[in-house]
Amino acid sequence: MIQLPLSKLSNVGTSIFSQMTQLANENEAINLSQGFPDFMPDPELLNYSDHFIKKGFNQYAPMGGMISLKEEIAKKIECAHQAVYHPDTEITVTAGGTQAIFTAIASFVKRDDEVIIFEPAYDCYEPTVELFGGIVKRFEMKAPDYEIDWNSVRNLVTDKTRMIIINNPNNPAGKILKENDFRELVSIVKDTSILILSDEVYENIVFDGRQHISICKYPELKERSLLVASFGKLFQVTGWKTGYCAAPENLTAEFRKVHQFNVFSVNTPIQLALAEYMKNPDHYNNLNAFFQEKRDFLRQGLSSTSFEMLDCEGTYFQALKYDKISDQSDIDFARELTITHKVASVPFSSFYKNKRNEHVIRLCFAKKQETLEKAIDNLCKI
Ligand SMILES: Cc1ncc(COP(=O)(O)O)c(C=O)c1O
Repeated sequence: MIQLPLSKLSNVGTSIFSQMTQLANENEAINLSQGFPDFMPDPELLNYSDHFIKKGFNQYAPMGGMISLKEEIAKKIECAHQAVYHPDTEITVTAGGTQAIFTAIASFVKRDDEVIIFEPAYDCYEPTVELFGGIVKRFEMKAPDYEIDWNSVRNLVTDKTRMIIINNPNNPAGKILKENDFRELVSIVKDTSILILSDEVYENIVFDGRQHISICKYPELKERSLLVASFGKLFQVTGWKTGYCAAPENLTAEFRKVHQFNVFSVNTPIQLALAEYMKNPDHYNNLNAFFQEKRDFLRQGLSSTSFEMLDCEGTYFQALKYDKISDQSDIDFARELTITHKVASVPFSSFYKNKRNEHVIRLCFAKKQETLEKAIDNLCKI
């Protein structure tokens, strides 16, 4: 066997999502751990993909994406946030939110640059920053409110800060950022060259009449931001791995320098199908109500248990505090829940570098009614 050089990601193992899914499969448990729907996408969308494949649109797409899709994306953003992105020069179609995030970080973060993230944090930010020699500075949001203390964030900023990554709505905490958060962010980045990577993959899953506020609403933030979105989350097709990055022309030009060698271009027939489907804005504007019904069904079903349900303002994840049930660590509790009670979840500590354990687990409610019913049944027996 050859001697390998030191691993570039020595602390990275199999993701908690894969681990919990494997445990769920081994124990025939209901899998509410990984964030994917277990129901079919809209047949209309499937028909479009079928149509474009059979019509022969099976070769490389242009590097930045199919213009028909980029135009629909631009319309959607302008209509929702009154912000204009030029389809040709400011929107790039990517292989999911993950590739958009990877490419954005690869394009701008250099050795010893500092990147601020907010924990609990989605798992790909930190390893990607480290891969390019960056240094992660973290602000820990805490249960039960997961509020951001912006003064503490301000203290993390140095002259080496290159990027701030926000995730709004936040996976796993289900929190959304408010006007006040954005005002603070504006004041922090003003007169600096700090870039913002805004992961908004759950932008259309926001509840109780709240509005998702996008980074692009504020011109002073838009000019320095890379906005990332995912069609997987928007249209319940996570396996299609399609998303996009919207950013001003100068940022997009740098982004595409990496994008062209990272993936070059993205699935042609799927882009065309998405473009066709997006022509009807009801397909994404009705999502809030669709998922709110699922959230409410889960919350109602668990209301008689000793789980404390934390606020869920958006995303398709419900956070449960279980300290009235057990004092086990969240990892042990999630394992036991899977093995004994046949419901797989994700422990919140896995979203923190220091494995902060606040006795909170995450359930995904993007599931069929019968899946949720079975899970509720099992959880009510605890
Ligand atoms: C917060 C967040 N960002 C990005 C992604 C990745 O999106 P995609 O599946 O389109 O790569 C996910 C997927 O779960 C996510 O939860």
